[in-house]
Amino acid sequence: MGASLTRENGARMVTLGEGTWSVRDSSDADVADITQIYGHWVEHGLASFELVPPSPSAIAQRRLSILADGFPYLVAVESAGGLLGFAYASWYRTRPAYRFACEDSVYVLPMAVRRGVGRRLLDELVCRCTAMEFRLMVAVIGDSGNAPSIKLHRSAGFEMAGVLPSIGWKHGRWVDTVLMARPLGVGNHGPPVERGRLGQN
Ligand SMILES: CC(C)(COP(=O)(O)OP(=O)(O)OC[C@H]1O[C@@H](n2cnc3c(N)ncnc32)[C@H](O)[C@@H]1OP(=O)(O)O)[C@@H](O)C(=O)NCCC(=O)NCCS
Repeated sequence: MGASLTRENGARMVTLGEGTWSVRDSSDADVADITQIYGHWVEHGLASFELVPPSPSAIAQRRLSILADGFPYLVAVESAGGLLGFAYASWYRTRPAYRFACEDSVYVLPMAVRRGVGRRLLDELVCRCTAMEFRLMVAVIGDSGNAPSIKLHRSAGFEMAGVLPSIGWKHGRWVDTVLMARPLGVGNHGPPVERGRLGQN
């Protein structure tokens, strides 16, 4: 499975075809496409509690901050170079006792959903964060009705941890937050391995 990107009337088009795609670390050059994908879901979805799509410079700054903390920031790209999705890990919360818990974020190009891109990105995040000695990955999912994200996380080994009902107000309605979590490595079986500072406060 793959996709090729063309531009028609200035709009970004994706044609899914027989090409291949892969997951790699993001680069500065990916920021424009990441901004576009994220902006779409901010405007048209409830997964993110942001109300206004951030600018490319805001996304660039956020990305650098995530990388500076040592976290992976990944992209899925088709063989012709078009971006199909992105994912990164970050602190779940920054107080020190949370230092073995991370949070994932995954966003896929609308035209490329349901083709395994989200799962591949999430699996790679799990792998990288396990290697970094994190013991729990948390998904903070906007909207109880976000079946694609809830099912994606369940398929990747996450279990339901709770729902914060009507904690957000977006697009004219109350929105829940769904919390899911997945142990990494041996999870809570045994103490964690203290490692060097990872940018934690
Ligand atoms: C959630 C999202 C990242 C899923 O990405 P994706 O590439 O479509 O997911 P995948 O194709 O890898 O699907 C993996 C599994 O998730 C589940 N899934 C994904 N989309 C689904 C859908 N629309 N309906 C039911 N199950 C779905 C399935 O179990 C699927 O496995 P299967 O296809 O073998 O049955 C994508 O829909 C998206 O970007 N949504 C908007 C933003 C968002 O909600 N991000 C998550 C923030 S926490």
